[in-house]
This record gives sequence, C-alpha cells and structure tokens, in this order.
Amino acid sequence: MKTNTATRRSFLATAALSAAAAAAPALSQTSSETRAHYRPPHRFGLGGVAIGNGFKPTPDPQAEETLEAAWANGVRYFDTSPWYGLGLSERRFGHFLHTQKREDYLISTKVGRLLKPGQPSDKLLWKAPSPFVHTYDYSADGVRRSIEDSLQRLGVESIDIVFIHDLSPDNDDLGERWTEYFNIAAKGAMPALTKMREEGLIKAWGLGVNTIEPALATLKVADPDIFLSATQYSLMFHEDALNRLFPACDAHGVSIVVGAPLNAGFLAGLDRYDYRGKMPEGFKEKRARISALASKHGTDLRTAALQFTTAPSTVSATIPGARTAQQVTENAASMKVQIPAAFWAELKNEGLIAKNAPTPEPPTS
Ligand SMILES: NC(=O)c1ccc[n+]([C@@H]2O[C@H](COP(=O)([O-])OP(=O)(O)OC[C@H]3O[C@@H](n4cnc5c(N)ncnc54)[C@H](OP(=O)(O)O)[C@@H]3O)[C@@H](O)[C@H]2O)c1
Repeated sequence: MKTNTATRRSFLATAALSAAAAAAPALSQTSSETRAHYRPPHRFGLGGVAIGNGFKPTPDPQAEETLEAAWANGVRYFDTSPWYGLGLSERRFGHFLHTQKREDYLISTKVGRLLKPGQPSDKLLWKAPSPFVHTYDYSADGVRRSIEDSLQRLGVESIDIVFIHDLSPDNDDLGERWTEYFNIAAKGAMPALTKMREEGLIKAWGLGVNTIEPALATLKVADPDIFLSATQYSLMFHEDALNRLFPACDAHGVSIVVGAPLNAGFLAGLDRYDYRGKMPEGFKEKRARISALASKHGTDLRTAALQFTTAPSTVSATIPGARTAQQVTENAASMKVQIPAAFWAELKNEGLIAKNAPTPEPPTS
C-alpha cells in the first residue's frame, strides 16, 4: 500500500495539494456502489479513551502495560483521537508503537478539533489531561493541520483511517448548530479526505460519532468508507442502528467500527452508562437479567457484549477500551470463546435483544 511507504514529508506535501483540490464540490463522483471500500483486517481492536485519561487518570506505566498486553494478545488495530486526553492518548499510543513495525498494525485517529496551549476546563471527560484547549475546524485546511499534528504526536508517517470526530448533535459544544458544522465539513473535510484516499495517503475515512443522523447525512453528500459508531450498537441498545444505519451502510458498501461496545464500562459491570452521566431507566435490571442468562449458559456478560457487536456483517471491527493489562487480556480472551446458540435464542425469546439482531455464528466444523 502506498501509504505505508510514503515518507512523512511526501505525505504532507501531497496532503497540501489535496487541500487545494478540496474546493471541488462535496460529492466525489466515484461510484460508492462500484468501488471496493476498505475494511480493517482486524475484527478486534483497542480504543483509546481510557489510555487518554477518560473518567480518571491512567498512570504512564499502566498505559504502557495495557498497550503491551494488547499487543501480546494479538491486537493490531488501535483507535485514538487528538481529543482523548487532549493529545495524551495519541502520545501514549505513539510511544508504544514506536517499537513496532508500521506495516504490522492499523491506526485510526480523528479530525475536527485542533489543540493549542491553554488551561483545559475541569468539566471535561479527561482527568489530568495535557495542557491544551480545543477549537473546532472541519474545513479542508483544518483536517490537514489536524493530521499533521497527529502524525507528530503519534510519531508515525501515515494514518490508516481518519474519522471526522463528534460532528453530532450530542456534542454539547455544537448542539443544534451541528448542521452548520456539518455543512462546513461537507465542503471541506469530506472532499479533502476523499482526495487523500484517492491519492493513497489514507486508506479510508468516515465519521466517528455517537448518534446516527450525521452518518446517514454523510452517505447522502459524500463517499465515506467506514463509520465509527459509538454507543449505538451494544447488547443494551441497538435497534435504531440495526434498522436504519446498517441497511443504509450496506447499500453504500460502508462498514461500521463499533465504539463503546461495553457502553463505557456498563457491560463490564461498572455503574456508568456511556458518557453523559445518566443511567437510563431499567437498564440495570435489564443488565442483571442478561447477566443471569449468560451464567446459566456458561458465559458472562462482557463476553456476550463484545461478541454481539461483531456479529452483523456490516460491522468490520469492535474496539473496546481498556485501562489495564488485565482488562485488555480478558477482552481478547472473550473474543475467542464459543457462546452457545441457546443463549442468544433465549435473549430473543425474553425480548432482551432485537429479534432481527444477528448473533455470533457457531463454528462450522
Ligand atoms: N465519537 C467517537 O468517535 C467515539 C465515541 C466513543 C468511543 N469511541 C472509541 O471507542 C472506544 C471504546 O469506547 P470506551 O473505551 O469509551 O468504552 P467501552 O469500550 O464501552 O468500555 C471501556 C471501559 O470499560 C471498562 N472495561 C473494559 N474492559 C474491562 C474488563 N475486562 N473488566 C472490567 N472493566 C472493563 C474500563 O473502564 P475503566 O477504565 O473505568 O476501568 C474501560 O475503560 C473508545 O476507547 C474510542 O476509541 C469513539
């Protein structure tokens, strides 16, 4: 792949040319029906929120041990963002990946926020983050600048997948004005990323969002490859993605990376559901029922939750986060066990998951 061999200098130079061409109309006329869309070759990856001090600080040595354990357990897909710990997550991934061969792993990061020195708000998800504040920039120039910054923090010469981050109504910084930012991205970030892909600088792009509408809107105005859909496809909550997002993606040959497959830890047993600090009514009771059925069938809640997210053909990867070596080791092990088909059947009979939700196939031999 051209991206792997490109030097960092040529990557940036060509990216600069891409920006000039990005003044072109938003929708590339490359037919999304005929083109082969990139899918990550690794179904199981590691998400970078906890590595970026999400919810609580993760000491440096612990972050390094977590990454080492991920690698030792065969993880070769790593997802991060400038946003996670305000640069901290990218620096930690980069520090670890520095000792690995670039062609041996896949990395996705995000664009849309630029960092500059400043005192971060203490209201952020990040605890003890790097000393930066963020501004939004979904323009072609902003994307180029963001990728340049990420290359430096990661210490790599190329990025495989770029997600346009949090361009979504649930992002409180944008709120109802998210559509104004979307229009900027449709004329700026999206064509710029399509151009970078066509030039072989990146393998794929899409949105990294926690709601469905922005992804559906993107399919109408641009030619993405892959979406990182977080909080929308889990054992607890999946019908909207299953019935609206996945069919639309299938029609365009676009795949989904599932973010927050454990609902930010809820399905690993934490009393925390996603990122907004609110526990949906009845969810603890529903979790207890699923957990009891899992034990009855000789499995466990977390294992069921992780495997559930990779069952749909639309899903190309799931990327649970982990804060410790033990967590990532357990999660990798969860992907290797066989869950009895009777468990999934009982979840459906009990109305605990959607009747039309794909469930993991038993091995053929
Ligand atoms: N808009 C976006 O693009 C977007 C949004 C959200 C997520 N994402 C991506 O998706 C990734 C996954 O989401 P996430 O990390 O927020 O949530 P998650 O994968 O649903 O849950 C991860 C958390 O669950 C807990 N956990 C994981 N494995 C465990 C185990 N074996 N035993 C006990 N607890 C365990 C840990 O909580 P503690 O750390 O508290 O121990 C961990 O940080 C992110 O890291 C990020 O890469 C992207």
